[in-house]
Amino acid sequence: MSNQSYVTTSGITAKTRICLTIGDPVEHSLSPTMHNAAYRELGIDDKFVFVAARVKVEHLADFVQAVRIMNILGVSCTLPHKLELKKHLDWVDPIAEDIGAVNTVVNEGGVLKGYNTDWLGVVAPLEKLTSLERRKVAVIGAGGAARAAVYGLANRRAIVKVYNRTVAKAESLAREFHCWAGGLEELGEIVDAEIIINTTSVGLSGTKDESLVNPDFIKSYHICFDAVYTPYETKFLRDAKAVGATIIHGTEMLIHQGMVQFKHFTNQNAPEEVMRQAVLQALGVSD
Ligand code: ATR
Repeated sequence: MSNQSYVTTSGITAKTRICLTIGDPVEHSLSPTMHNAAYRELGIDDKFVFVAARVKVEHLADFVQAVRIMNILGVSCTLPHKLELKKHLDWVDPIAEDIGAVNTVVNEGGVLKGYNTDWLGVVAPLEKLTSLERRKVAVIGAGGAARAAVYGLANRRAIVKVYNRTVAKAESLAREFHCWAGGLEELGEIVDAEIIINTTSVGLSGTKDESLVNPDFIKSYHICFDAVYTPYETKFLRDAKAVGATIIHGTEMLIHQGMVQFKHFTNQNAPEEVMRQAVLQALGVSD
């Protein structure tokens, strides 16, 4: 063996810190694509690398132990781990405690700290268009994505009503965050709202020609935001576009929650446009 040091083309060395996204499944995740593109853009792809790992629910505790042992820098977490993960950490941010879910873990010198960046994934794209204070917002769905959305909107003092197929779940969420609740049959009211957010899975690839929102209720003054991003443009967004409403694609939620994660992991500001282009390219969208 010679003394020559070998460096890979991407500049990864023994000092490179690992970030990774976990989920089950995880193969569809765009987080590695988005974060690695950002590392390259900032010339820090020798310092950080972002990969993915499929982690089964029953292995979550062992996984967290591995993070400690291997000194992994950051973890981004998707379904089904968002509720369980926080139980294994050393410290959880009060906002993540309020939302009840952690989607980001940062290893700060051996101390594992949990955060939630999903709520900013909802709030930040909307705040590019409007202030949220006193805005009337209809949130459709009452699952995990809705929780993050309702927390963020309540934080910004919007006037929120949650509509869900299972009304009891909407009521429970609304009680917690001091807003209103109703069933899907009340969705006609959204003509009076300013912002409509779909957080349900309706519109996803398997139901790509379905929407819970009757197009007759969507008006040009609405801002319509869909958490679903496969397909890139859901039926809900297509209907909204057709009447001249402002639309926000689900990719914006992904990008903005990822930008906040990026800052947590690298302590640097995320290159937004590079991350957006990486995501759109991976989805085959020419925007
Ligand atoms: P996530 O964490 O991604 O938000 P979730 O917690 O499983 O996922 O929540 C899914 C949401 O989509 C729920 O609000 C669910 O309604 P229910 O609470 O009544 O189950 C909603 N949803 C899923 N499929 C639906 C459908 N076909 N019609 C109406 N709502 C649907």
